[in-house]
Amino acid sequence: MPIRNIPVIPTPYYQYDLGLLDNTLALASSGSSRYGFHIHYALKANYDPRILSGIREAGFGVDCVSLNEVQYALAGGFEPSTIVFAGVGKSDLEIEEALLSGILCLNIESVEELEVVGMIAARLQVKAPVVLRVNPDLPAMTHPHITTGLKVNKFGIAVARLQEALVRCKNQPWLNFLGLHFHIGSQISSQQPFEALCQAANRIWHDFDISGHGATMINLGGGLGIDYLDPVNNPIPDFEGFFKLFHDKLDLPGEISRHFELGRSLTGQCGALVTRVLYVKKGAGKRHVIVDAGMTELIRPALYGAIHLIENITTIDGAEMYDVVGPICESSDCFGKDIILPYTFRGDLLKIYSCGAYAESMSMNYNLRGTIGKVYLEGHSKSSAKVIPMTGLQRFSAVR
Ligand code: LLP
Repeated sequence: MPIRNIPVIPTPYYQYDLGLLDNTLALASSGSSRYGFHIHYALKANYDPRILSGIREAGFGVDCVSLNEVQYALAGGFEPSTIVFAGVGKSDLEIEEALLSGILCLNIESVEELEVVGMIAARLQVKAPVVLRVNPDLPAMTHPHITTGLKVNKFGIAVARLQEALVRCKNQPWLNFLGLHFHIGSQISSQQPFEALCQAANRIWHDFDISGHGATMINLGGGLGIDYLDPVNNPIPDFEGFFKLFHDKLDLPGEISRHFELGRSLTGQCGALVTRVLYVKKGAGKRHVIVDAGMTELIRPALYGAIHLIENITTIDGAEMYDVVGPICESSDCFGKDIILPYTFRGDLLKIYSCGAYAESMSMNYNLRGTIGKVYLEGHSKSSAKVIPMTGLQRFSAVR
């Protein structure tokens, strides 16, 4: 029997809860503005235009890692003066265009890059606003793939070369030194690494007399984690505690503006991946639930062994242990091993939580999967949610 008035949405699809996004942004905004802190949304977490509008309306700027991201943010209506541009491998074209676009700053990741930026700025006769990203050699206590502040990592300028970078800024009239940048990693779930970051930033600031070099800003990066294990009961990270820690522990002159680059914590819990069960396959010692989403839509479990809560939203009867896997030709295409679900059947819908950051933005076309659709839940509670199916984005309709 046909079901009336419920749009049939082809699966899999991303589902974005704009009400939860609004609530999350409001708390991030109140937590940061209490101290006059500035937030630049790490665009790489999610490029969705409606999410981006929410971010812009919340008054945040953007943290970009490619010229395309800078241009996307500008096209999305963000003021150039709110955009920061990081990345260890900016090309000459990216540097040139970024300088001409009038963004707030380039976060410089090496002395070698600083030299190239200086040359390009001199050629263009444009003063390059630069912030030096320092590698403080600190553990972030997170997955090694998303740890960025250890000396073995490719990111940032080693403390041992900071003096050289500062001297270069001083001697090159086309470089306008604005301050320091740090980002030690992502999905950081305790306060300790952030405390250590504050101590390192204080020490470096004072040891190198950064104020004496004319600095006006410090950027502490992002990294605040979300609760992947219990997203239902803990949908919004502790922004208040996060910003209070930096307020309490940073010991810098009051006039130095404080900037943060939050990505996952702003959007991560606002997204889910909804997928349909194609087959429940009984094998030797395992029951595989084979769904129509794969690592092509959510690569985090395959790439980092990440855990995402999976719920059967069709049924609640019974309990059975399953491996939930996708259709991609890789054994790592697995969303969860030995997880307990209700008795699950072909046709059931599963909801994979915490897919608002680094899911859609990391999706790929392997196996010529194409692009999937998305729906937006609007309003501040699930009961008033309005489902808007996207058209023109259906699977197989386009091969990117
Ligand atoms: N700033 C810089 C310089 C970054 O490299 C990043 C993230 C951020 C800010 C934002 O960090 P967040 O607040 O989102 O933790 N694909 C991985 C995460 C990679 C993060 C890369 N850099 C994942 O799915 O866990």
